[in-house]
Amino acid sequence: MTRLQGKTALITGAATGIGFAVAARFAREGARVLIGDRDADATAAAVERIGEAARAAVLDISDESSVAAAFADAEAAGWTPDVVVANAGVQLFGQDAPIADLDLAVWQRTVDVNLTGTFLTIKHAVRAMHDTGGSIIVTGSPTGINGEGRAFTAYSATKAGIHGLSRTVAAAYADRGIRVNTVVPAYTETSLVTTITDDPEARAAIIGRIPLGRAGAPEDVEGIMVFLASDDGAFATGSLFAVDGGMSTL
Ligand SMILES: NC(=O)c1ccc[n+]([C@@H]2O[C@H](COP(=O)([O-])OP(=O)(O)OC[C@H]3O[C@@H](n4cnc5c(N)ncnc54)[C@H](O)[C@@H]3O)[C@@H](O)[C@H]2O)c1
Repeated sequence: MTRLQGKTALITGAATGIGFAVAARFAREGARVLIGDRDADATAAAVERIGEAARAAVLDISDESSVAAAFADAEAAGWTPDVVVANAGVQLFGQDAPIADLDLAVWQRTVDVNLTGTFLTIKHAVRAMHDTGGSIIVTGSPTGINGEGRAFTAYSATKAGIHGLSRTVAAAYADRGIRVNTVVPAYTETSLVTTITDDPEARAAIIGRIPLGRAGAPEDVEGIMVFLASDDGAFATGSLFAVDGGMSTL
């Protein structure tokens, strides 16, 4: 498995969940991986688990100086990424709410991380790849397409926003050899969604809406990310790739 030999990837939100699974798989495929996460301890643990192909890139994607510093550090170390996975995100279960009940602070925090954070990650990724080309992959969500719950107002809005952002950047930088695509996982059992996982009724309801009949695992998202990061995906840009157990068919 060496489909990413010679590539360097920065993956945000890679200390846990989907991002960690993707980082570990990229390393197994021959890439060097920068673990970009705001949780320094979990980042160090992730680097240790992956081994010498991994390097910490502690950052807060909602803070431009932090994002810029992570890219500068990577470059100074000779680890300038040619693949960037803008994956970090938050979903504020119990706080995100139908709009009449949604606090501005909850809206703002969701926008700061999911939308502004993805904007800043892509902005600095494009700068890093401007002369060389590269692949940017955004982790989107079914909530950005269909709307998956009455209470996911802020989350859905930010995910729809990053789908549009990804498409627009793809068009703007195709002539620089920069490809930008969005991967849409369905309900995937990570620490993000324990509110659903720990509630048997809610879990059964969401799995009932997945034709393949099970929850997603972080590993389910790896394969499409490898394809998009690799030269196999050379003609793919500006698209949405769902890995959702068929959820979008219903
Ligand atoms: N789990 C699902 O069902 C599901 C479904 C569709 C899309 N997604 C998306 O997948 C992505 C990864 O989610 P996950 O399920 O692996 O969640 P997770 O909570 O397991 O991992 C998210 C990681 O992002 C990091 N992070 C959060 N805010 C950050 C910030 N400001 N700067 C840097 N790092 C930050 C966290 O520390 C954490 O390590 C998210 O964008 C999420 O919206 C998840």
